[in-house]
Amino acid sequence: MNLTAESVSKKYMRNAGDANYIEPVKECSLILKTGSLTLLSGRSGCGKTTFLNILSGLLAPSSGKVYLDKTDLYALDDKRLSALRNRHFGIIPQGESALHSLTLIENVLLPGKLSREENNKSGIKKRSDMLLERFNIGHLKNELPGALSGGELRRMAICRALILDPEVIFADEPTGDLDDDNTLMVLKMLRNLADDGHTVFLVTHENRGCDFADNIYRMDAGILTKA
Ligand SMILES: Nc1ncnc2c1ncn2[C@@H]1O[C@H](COP(=O)(O)OP(=O)(O)O)[C@@H](O)[C@H]1O
Ligand SMILES: [Mg+2]
Repeated sequence: MNLTAESVSKKYMRNAGDANYIEPVKECSLILKTGSLTLLSGRSGCGKTTFLNILSGLLAPSSGKVYLDKTDLYALDDKRLSALRNRHFGIIPQGESALHSLTLIENVLLPGKLSREENNKSGIKKRSDMLLERFNIGHLKNELPGALSGGELRRMAICRALILDPEVIFADEPTGDLDDDNTLMVLKMLRNLADDGHTVFLVTHENRGCDFADNIYRMDAGILTKA
């Protein structure tokens, strides 16, 4: 599936009632193509996460459009947009995103519980076993997040994003808290997903990421340029 951003901007008021606003994303346009890995880098605070959230249907832009193939994401009502995200998008958010009352495996299985895939329980169970094994966290499946390290939680979030085999994958600094071996493993995995026909968008500071990307963009104060 192709994802297209047309001139998206996001404005936030800084002082309510005042004309003061900041614009972390300014008129950004981009096409993410099926079977490609697109990398975005840039300094902290330059608008990368805001842009990724707009692309992934989590944050409505102040202006501009985002299309998944021909579907205008923000023309959908909340229920339809949520269903579209659950069905087509895998999102690896920046920072920690575990639900703390659920075990590692319950966190990973959650997207299946929230979707029509609920009736494909055995397929999802098999896939979760495969993912946990691949990311070396199978032995931790019954642990609560409080008992896991940053790197283990990160790998859990990656498994959760991939559990329904989404067509489009958004990864926001997915290797931030991983060691060298796991960083390389995640970059290779994202590359393989693109080679298998998925659409991959990766935000990272990791220099080695460039070796795995088809397209490289930089963001600077909300302005996107192709590297
Ligand atoms: N909800 C919000 N309200 C106001 N300002 C925000 C909000 N979210 C992000 N920002 C601001 O937008 C800018 C870009 O943030 P972000 O997209 O997280 O950058 P990056 O991911 O590149 O570090 C920052 O200055 C941040 O403070
Ligand atoms: Mg960020």
